[in-house]
Amino acid sequence: MEIVRTIPWMKETVRQARADNHVVGFIPTMGALHEGHLSLIRRARMDCSRVFASIFLNPTQFGPNEDLTKYPRTFDADVEKLTAAGVNVLFAPESKEVYPPEFRTHVDVQGLSEKLEGKSRPGHFRGVATVVLKLFEIVQPQFAFFGRKDAQQVRILQQMATDLNLDVKIVVCPIVREPDGLALSSRNTYLNSEERLAATVLHRALDAARREANTGTRDALQLQASIQGILASEPLVRMDYIAIVDAGSFEPVSRISGRPVYALLAVHVGKTRLIDNLLIEPAAGQNALICSL
Ligand code: PAJ
Repeated sequence: MEIVRTIPWMKETVRQARADNHVVGFIPTMGALHEGHLSLIRRARMDCSRVFASIFLNPTQFGPNEDLTKYPRTFDADVEKLTAAGVNVLFAPESKEVYPPEFRTHVDVQGLSEKLEGKSRPGHFRGVATVVLKLFEIVQPQFAFFGRKDAQQVRILQQMATDLNLDVKIVVCPIVREPDGLALSSRNTYLNSEERLAATVLHRALDAARREANTGTRDALQLQASIQGILASEPLVRMDYIAIVDAGSFEPVSRISGRPVYALLAVHVGKTRLIDNLLIEPAAGQNALICSL
């Protein structure tokens, strides 16, 4: 795997790949890689003849009181994982390469960015959209792979790609979980053993909602109440938000009907903030649903 540190070098590497008629797939990450990230790489390997990944711990998407300084940095182990997974090129720029002192431009995907995650983390999605647009411009991929774990993030990036006529197809990949249901996250390493056990409550709550939806419940408030009841049973967990929203607009819905919806969760387990979601989609057939955890 080639490791590229500068923007001009990266652009040249991409230019060559495109000149050789390669289909370039791209997986942006912030490092501290786990099986969730690697699943995106495996998916990219199926669709693309060249797989490019990036590791960039993007400072602009962290609030002043968030975990930028303590975010896990595991670069050497990440390089080994990416090499083993068959990544061709890793773009790993320094912060000053991406954000020189005179940097001034930001991307705001209005309407989708201010609620839910954006409400709890003001400015977060502005930082995400800005860095991802920059990375798309530098890497020029035909395909880019994102996890449904961060459902609002990928929805915002799809909107950005549409609004700005970007020539990249955004592929949304399933959530990878631990055997006990906890969604993999770089932040799971912050949990002590007691908190790690308590954190399974996110999956338990969403799984209960999945079962209820599958047995006919269509009332969003009822699903929300069941999720809330299960979360409340876990003393180490403090709720940030529970929402049942339309998967396109991220506006709350009162009933599950003909359109896909997300049940979204954000909680604190001790000092660690975790998110998870359940996707509920109408299926062919009378009143049937496909629920994906
Ligand atoms: P990061 O948190 O490193 O995640 C990189 C990608 O991995 C994202 O698309 C995320 O949704 C996906 N991912 C994380 N956990 C996953 C899991 N358990 N299953 C499947 N996919 C998972 O998201 C970011 O970085 C940043 O915001 C970024 C897009 C790189 C911009 O800085």
